[in-house]
Amino acid sequence: MEVAETIQSVRRQVTTAREKGKRIGFVPTMGALHIGHISLIESAVNQTDFVVVSIFVNPTQFGPGEDFQKYPRPLDQDLEICRKTGVRLVFVPTPEQMYGSENLTWATVEKLTEPLCGQFRPGHFRGVTTVCAKLFNIVQPDVAFFGQKDAQQAIAIKRMVADLNMPLQIVVCPTVREPDGLAVSSRNKYLTKQQRKDATLIYKSLQKCREMIEAGVTNTKEIIGQMRKILNQIPSAKLEYVSIVDSETLESTDKVCGKILAAVAVKIGSTRLIDNILLDTGKQ
Ligand code: PAJ
Repeated sequence: MEVAETIQSVRRQVTTAREKGKRIGFVPTMGALHIGHISLIESAVNQTDFVVVSIFVNPTQFGPGEDFQKYPRPLDQDLEICRKTGVRLVFVPTPEQMYGSENLTWATVEKLTEPLCGQFRPGHFRGVTTVCAKLFNIVQPDVAFFGQKDAQQAIAIKRMVADLNMPLQIVVCPTVREPDGLAVSSRNKYLTKQQRKDATLIYKSLQKCREMIEAGVTNTKEIIGQMRKILNQIPSAKLEYVSIVDSETLESTDKVCGKILAAVAVKIGSTRLIDNILLDTGKQ
């Protein structure tokens, strides 16, 4: 496994692999790798011949007062995980490599980035789509892998790739959970013991949504009301949103029908956690 710190070095190694007829798989990350990231890497290793992982805590997707400074950066541990999982090249750029002294060009996906997390993290998705556009241009992968855990991010990136005719395929992999249902996240490390226990209510609220829909409830307000009741049991929680939206347009609906995304964002203490489930109601 090679570790590259410069764009030129990545380009050189990927070009060599492509000349040998290898299909290039790419997993962009911010490091602090866990079993969620590993599942993406495993999919990439299974579906492509030469897997590139990037580790870059992207400053442009963090707002003022967010956790950019304190975001975990256990690089040696991350490289060890990449080595063990069959990654061929890890790209670890500096902010200067990625952005130079001043970045004046941005990739912005409209509409799809406005609801849900977009309401609470202004500028976040512009940072995500821009860094992914840059990484796609640097690595030039055939396939890039993203997690369903960040559903709105995956939708925005798919749309950017389609709208800008980027020559790669996006694969979205299922959310990996702890045995008690909590979605695995690098930010779970910030939780105290009690908060970690309370955080299981997030997935419980999503399961409640699933149960109600399976029992035939279609009134979105009624379902969201029950989900909020569960989440309000967390003493230190501030709910950002509890939403049921169309899984493609991300528009909210009064009545549940078609394919929907139930999504939750909650701050437990100062830790912001998100989770979601996709449901096909089978109704038109
Ligand atoms: P990061 O939070 O490190 O996540 C990297 C990838 O891992 C994303 O596609 C994310 O959805 C996926 N992932 C995280 N937790 C997961 C879980 N429990 N199950 C399945 N997949 C999971 O998302 C980012 O970084 C950044 O925004 C990035 C795309 C790298 C751009 O900077």
